Amino acid sequence: MEITNVMEYEAIARQKLPKMVFDYYASGAEDQWTLKDNREAFSRILFRPRILIDVSRIDMTTTVLGFKLSMPIMIAPTAMQKMAHPEGEYATARAASAAGTIMTLSSWATSSVEEVASTGPGIRFFQLYVYKDRHVVAQLVRRAERAGFKAIALTVDTPRLGRREADIKNRFTLPPFLTLKNFEGLDLGKMDKADDSGLASYVAGQIDRTLSWKDVKWLQTITTMPILVKGVLTAEDTRLAIQSGAAGIIVSNHGARQLDYVPATISALEEVVKAAQGRVPVFLDGGVRRGTDVFKALALGASGIFIGRPVVFSLAAEGEAGVRKVLQMLRDEFELTMALSGCTSLKEITRNHIVTEADRNR
Ligand code: FNR
Repeated sequence: MEITNVMEYEAIARQKLPKMVFDYYASGAEDQWTLKDNREAFSRILFRPRILIDVSRIDMTTTVLGFKLSMPIMIAPTAMQKMAHPEGEYATARAASAAGTIMTLSSWATSSVEEVASTGPGIRFFQLYVYKDRHVVAQLVRRAERAGFKAIALTVDTPRLGRREADIKNRFTLPPFLTLKNFEGLDLGKMDKADDSGLASYVAGQIDRTLSWKDVKWLQTITTMPILVKGVLTAEDTRLAIQSGAAGIIVSNHGARQLDYVPATISALEEVVKAAQGRVPVFLDGGVRRGTDVFKALALGASGIFIGRPVVFSLAAEGEAGVRKVLQMLRDEFELTMALSGCTSLKEITRNHIVTEADRNR
């Protein structure tokens, strides 16, 4: 049957993938309250469409950190994509490039920065996890820069791994035929099987829990790439990120995989946008599955959004063609949303085009 929306790929992936892999991709932390709210919070925002505006031409293009994109829809870093499909990150990179948008490569990718660069031209960001061994970090950042990556997305919400109970039950670990390719040769490319989640043990062993704001400054001394701080949910941290030299902020709760009972990202967005005062761009990820969601995020002040799970689910279902289709469906839906709400370019999308629950309670 024909696939008509992004969400439909999840059921196909569930059928195709081993349970351990599907559960790793799909799960949130603990009660998965935030996982549910990441979606539901979008549904509590309604439109105030404007009518009788000439919408015969719609321009969805935008600029992110100076790079021209076909649309404000980008790809978030998701780890270990070769578990979904043999082409893994290669397929994602090609699909993003074909769509004229950015792919963010995970530190924990099953393809290296050099391999992804070899797929051809494209604007790519590199997501960084900071290891205890700073030589490893410095080396990896240099490699990403040399491979042509344009920015670092520094993940700051993972000093320890969130408690994902399915991964514990499944004794999740990276299948032995795969490696965390960026760390191959550094003796950090394999994940041992553990009594609980193999990934949680890996994080406990390797990731630096002491990471703090001074390290955001340190990172700027070892690279010329701009740094996006990924995992901001409050005004306080927005101000600190800007003071620390961040070039942008990603409002993210890690797809509800870290601290449970944090608000949906779309609920936290406006607070961050206000605190940023236009000094740096603010992006959002978490639960974006419809073109209407993209519009709502932009109306609340986001400069763009990133998608996570739709990429791995569509990869599992149809490889590169699946990821292309996800990007195309979101693009088409977003264009239609703009037309039906009377906006012909991104700058015409305003706060007045939506009404939030807070607005309605006022
Ligand atoms: C992630 N995410 C993530 N984030 C990160 O900084 N580094 C990583 O390696 C990963 N890996 C990862 C794997 C999987 C399977 C998921 C689902 C998520 C978080 C990701 O970048 C993003 O924040 C969320 O996925 C966005 O939410 P949605 O679109 O999945 O709802």
